[in-house]
Amino acid sequence: MSGISLLLVLPVLPGPPLPPSAGPARPAASPISEQQDSGLRTLRLDECDLSKARQGWGRPRANRSVGGRPLRIAGKEYEHGFGTHTDGVLHFRLDGRVERFEALVGVDSEVGSRGSVAFRVLADGKERFLSRPLRGGERPFPLRIDLRGAKTLILQVLGGEDGIDYDHADWVEAVFRFRGKPPETVTPPRPKPYILTPPPRPEPAIVGARIFGVRPGSPVLYQIAATGRRPMRFSADNLPEGLRLDPTSGRLTGVLKRPGRHVIDLRAVNDLGAAHAKLSLVVGDRIALTPPMGWNSWNCWALAVDDGKIRRAARAMVSSGLIRHGWQYINIDDGWMVKRNSKDPTLGGPTRDEEGRILTNKRFPDMKALTDFIHGLGLKAGIYTSPGPWTCAGYEGAWKHEKQDAQTFAEWGFDFLKYDWCGYGSLVKNPTLAQLQAPYRLMKACLDAQPRDIVFSLCQYGMGKVWEWGARVGGNCWRTTGDIRDSWSSMSGIGFRQDVCAPHAGPGRWNDPDMLVVGKVGWGPKLHPSNLNPDEQYTHISLWCLLAAPLLIGCDLEDLDPFTLNLLTNDEVLAIDQDPLGRAARRVVKKRLTEIWARPLADGSRAVGLFNRDEIPLEIRLEFSSLGLRGPRRLRDLWRQKDLDLHEQSYAAVVPPHGVLLLRLSRP
Ligand code: GLA
Repeated sequence: MSGISLLLVLPVLPGPPLPPSAGPARPAASPISEQQDSGLRTLRLDECDLSKARQGWGRPRANRSVGGRPLRIAGKEYEHGFGTHTDGVLHFRLDGRVERFEALVGVDSEVGSRGSVAFRVLADGKERFLSRPLRGGERPFPLRIDLRGAKTLILQVLGGEDGIDYDHADWVEAVFRFRGKPPETVTPPRPKPYILTPPPRPEPAIVGARIFGVRPGSPVLYQIAATGRRPMRFSADNLPEGLRLDPTSGRLTGVLKRPGRHVIDLRAVNDLGAAHAKLSLVVGDRIALTPPMGWNSWNCWALAVDDGKIRRAARAMVSSGLIRHGWQYINIDDGWMVKRNSKDPTLGGPTRDEEGRILTNKRFPDMKALTDFIHGLGLKAGIYTSPGPWTCAGYEGAWKHEKQDAQTFAEWGFDFLKYDWCGYGSLVKNPTLAQLQAPYRLMKACLDAQPRDIVFSLCQYGMGKVWEWGARVGGNCWRTTGDIRDSWSSMSGIGFRQDVCAPHAGPGRWNDPDMLVVGKVGWGPKLHPSNLNPDEQYTHISLWCLLAAPLLIGCDLEDLDPFTLNLLTNDEVLAIDQDPLGRAARRVVKKRLTEIWARPLADGSRAVGLFNRDEIPLEIRLEFSSLGLRGPRRLRDLWRQKDLDLHEQSYAAVVPPHGVLLLRLSRP
């Protein structure tokens, strides 16, 4: 098994020269004289509890490669060691009792000449060793590290310059020389959830998307997002004929027949004051002018989804207050249709009626009633299918029924369609670019013919560089990656790999790095709190907003803890995602494990994320010149919603491990 880890990539590691302490004086494997080491005990790395290791692919193994074979480097077999993988970390408690650590490191021979891995050792949060990237086939690199006095140790495996595929990393003949109690592997303490954002003020504030696209003749449903104490009354000036605004709910509805652009003055009033905002309503052929924001059933319920869970999510979207921050879609993922050959009476049965019209399974007794319920709350409804004969999970797909299914979805009242390649793969092996595009072009034409706007979400995991042509085949967004999981390796691997896609995003056409993994997730029916720690979750939301990504919450909305709710309701952060300019952030600086990403915003300011991908806190310096800016800038910390004053040329801050500082820079 060559162990291709497809989805997660750690980009370029510049491979700096070895720090002076790292140069191994002699091979670690050399025998140690009794005299020199009198009183020292020895513990082999493979004797430690390796289950505490995290890694980007596979599982940690004692005395085996990550592929499950005997450990081998440059063709030579080693009896003892630790087989792991890039994006690997293992933490130890040493308590000052370890004299030194010795090992040989290299890429396991099972991947041939592929793979590229850098090995790193940190003691008490300081780097003590970093190898250059080692390639498959290279002789092992010996290391011998003096650890006298050190309390903690981290063994780390980083990717080389070519992603993490084939990065099968071995620490062999690895031993600790210590006194007294042996060193122990530990799970690093998880930072406690900490809330950075102050609660919204009680005075009215209008937030959410400031631009909205609708096709002539399609029903408009625009819910004004506004924070502040209720009751609140809404009104509008310059409402075009054909639209009305419900003063209590703040819902704009109606139909506009002719193309054009209307700038509507919105007003929200409560007993503490009034707020104003302008909304550009663009009647034309483009929709999704800002990235869709909502919820999707997959990351929490997966195939345990049913009508009740969708209704409860919709209700919770309102009762939690998320709707007041611009969250609006309630999307059903896989699992609503009939499952082929299923013995489960709630899933099996005929897949279509005599006319070929698609049937729901018994867990979804009435789709029209369900979307009416969702719309009645001021929300929008999304559905899922595949261009293939069946979906990923083996449920009925749209193949040979595309037109009919699009029509059914429109009749049912859906506003969003996720179209997942999956079963289509059985029809075309090794598809050409034209074959990759064909099913999406076909469905787009079917959706265009419907009398309502349906956001078209392409799901094909990034095949054929879909970001280069997703908009051409009619997509409003397209997945750029395989499925996300709630791990640092998955989320950061996907998020930090998006630079190549960024130039292709814009209003109505968004890169989709997959759904959010904050809150309680689990691919149902059992859920667990996201395995991302709080700093990783701040990074996740910051990065997705910088990337102008669709924001689809994947957790149980009925069970939102204060931290998660806070994370999803920072209006200044969400405004970055929803910025009407629609430019996705690019990576502007990458130094070792720190990255700076930035995007221009409609008002001339910049959103900038300072990211620390390391295991230790790091100071990150933002030079304004790296953004092409000259002269002083005002800085605002968006998570804390706090001004940081004027800075002349640069700004530096210590960023926690796996954490972020999200800034907005504007002219003084
Ligand atoms: C694929 C998609 C997921 C989800 C499942 C449903 O894996 O990428 O997002 O829709 O199918 O089966």
